[in-house]
Amino acid sequence: MNSKSLVSIDDISRDEILDLIERARYFEENPNSKVLDGKVVATLFFEPSTRTRLSFETAVNRLGGRVIGFSDASTSSSAKGETLKDTIKMVSNYADLIVMRHHLEGAARYATEVTDVPIINAGDGSNQHPSQTMLDLYSISKTQGRLNDLTITMVGDLKYGRTVHSLLMAMRYFNPTFNFVACDELQMPVEYKQFCDKNGIKYNEYSDFSPEVINSSDILYMTRVQRERFTDIMEYEKVKNLYTLHNAMLADAKDNLRVLHPLPRINEISQDVDDNPKAYYFDQARNGLFARQAIICRALDIDPQK
Ligand code: CP
Repeated sequence: MNSKSLVSIDDISRDEILDLIERARYFEENPNSKVLDGKVVATLFFEPSTRTRLSFETAVNRLGGRVIGFSDASTSSSAKGETLKDTIKMVSNYADLIVMRHHLEGAARYATEVTDVPIINAGDGSNQHPSQTMLDLYSISKTQGRLNDLTITMVGDLKYGRTVHSLLMAMRYFNPTFNFVACDELQMPVEYKQFCDKNGIKYNEYSDFSPEVINSSDILYMTRVQRERFTDIMEYEKVKNLYTLHNAMLADAKDNLRVLHPLPRINEISQDVDDNPKAYYFDQARNGLFARQAIICRALDIDPQK
């Protein structure tokens, strides 16, 4: 595996995380430095995406590189039965870096085993979404002025939501307290709770999205119920509308509370929240551009400040 790949947030140290946040800050001030001149980045999206693909591609374009790839695998030769291994080996002939999203957990890790080109995991099934985590951490750092000692409430689909899994793991360096708000069917998986236990991370579990939980939070991290992960659509129908944040529910929230959501939202956040100054999800998505510029430069061993 190329050591500059980013497959799991667990692949990078606390110092590397802090370094990427500093780099994201730099790119927010200097989004158009042409440090990728002559580089080609492939974006291979076997699953749908708006933010992740377009912010990666914008990041490359703003840094002066070129993008190849596909946003719909049905237009690639995987539709003819080409294996993931062969697809990765082929694209490695053309690109300096591969950004890939795949429905299978472990697909990005597998890709690192068949190529020396660095791989960035843009989401693998319900497993990991490390570039989302970097933009989440940047957003948290910007809005709270710190990463340490925060109470983060995660709401919704904690079972299939890869963004909460990645964020939970990254926060192990920063002494968080987590509140997990989910119905029985969508609880945080046991392996992540064991991860918390092993790393001394405090967490509480609730089925009620109560004022007490909201008012104790610094970050309210809402998530979409991941319809595409359900094998039984009736099960999805049962749980899809259980938790919705309305503006009135933020009336007694802490001043510093910010509402995050990896997006897309369906109906987890009512539109009446959008104008509340605590709503941060659209800014969060914008931060993705700068965080991904930082991640791309790390992967290609480019120091933008030199
Ligand atoms: N947050 C996120 O991964 O969004 P997309 O699915 O639109 O890329």
